[in-house]
Amino acid sequence: MKIRKAVITAAGLGTRVLPASKAMPKEMIPIVDKPAIQYIAEECVKAGITDILIILSRGKHVVEDHFDRSPDLEKKLAESGRDNVLRDMIAIAQMADFTYVRQQEQLGLGHAVLCAKNFVGDEPFAVLYGDDVIIGDDPAIAQLSRAYEKYEKGIVGIKEVSVEDVKRYSSMKLTALGDGCFSITDMVEKPSEDQIFSHYSILGRCILPPDIFEILESIPKGKNNELQLTDAMKVLAQRNGMIGIDFTGQRYDIGNKLGILKAAIDVGLSRPELHDELAAYIKAAAERL
Ligand code: UTP
Repeated sequence: MKIRKAVITAAGLGTRVLPASKAMPKEMIPIVDKPAIQYIAEECVKAGITDILIILSRGKHVVEDHFDRSPDLEKKLAESGRDNVLRDMIAIAQMADFTYVRQQEQLGLGHAVLCAKNFVGDEPFAVLYGDDVIIGDDPAIAQLSRAYEKYEKGIVGIKEVSVEDVKRYSSMKLTALGDGCFSITDMVEKPSEDQIFSHYSILGRCILPPDIFEILESIPKGKNNELQLTDAMKVLAQRNGMIGIDFTGQRYDIGNKLGILKAAIDVGLSRPELHDELAAYIKAAAERL
């Protein structure tokens, strides 16, 4: 079955990037000239997803404005003959069918996904964490969607990370199936040293069957007293098995200061109009180190 619905979670408080996220959602932090969440929506569209639900919270209505038409701006751009920019602005609003749900209290990523229950209905769906931008030729969520079509099981995007990061994210119990594909039978959120199964963690992308909602409704709160999506996926993995995809593409954590800086440098260098001057600046800055 083809994946046509995606849920982007963007309701978190973003305390690691304060004060940037005090009055502006961290998901709107620009990478060069585009908000982080637009890269994520574009990744969905490139993977054939047509319906996108964004989970928001108080003060995050600018995300809705960003994916909406802007008649005054469009009129001004048309009058000044800036047709290319005008086309790009209209395309942002038309790339997918966007809907929004508010997560009234920030009770965790699992709770944010539970807010998507009515939107999802009875079909498998993609989940993309709103602060995880992945850039690559083959969209990460398309790689996971293809795996879903092949295995018809829950799929998670995974990468091998440092021990510090495993403890911060999650750890997968897995066996290799070949071609960057793994069978997952268990997992743990934010493990302590003695709970680590492997150094593979889930990074920002999953495809889930609708059964996940019944699981999310039945499990207790987990680490940090939050409803953890990993705890629900653990039940799914133990019940039916899950598939891990070691996806290609560079991932940037926009909920983290260093991630924002790395994304700006790499994306800036990839833009022909910025490349030469930015490269010269980086070289001069490196001399000063
Ligand atoms: P994070 O783990 O980065 O949490 O969420 P956070 O609260 O946003 O950030 P910090 O830790 O305070 O800096 C991962 C993703 O899940 C969303 C976030 O918006 C982010 O995209 N999220 C998290 C929700 O939508 N709701 C929640 O209750 C928690």
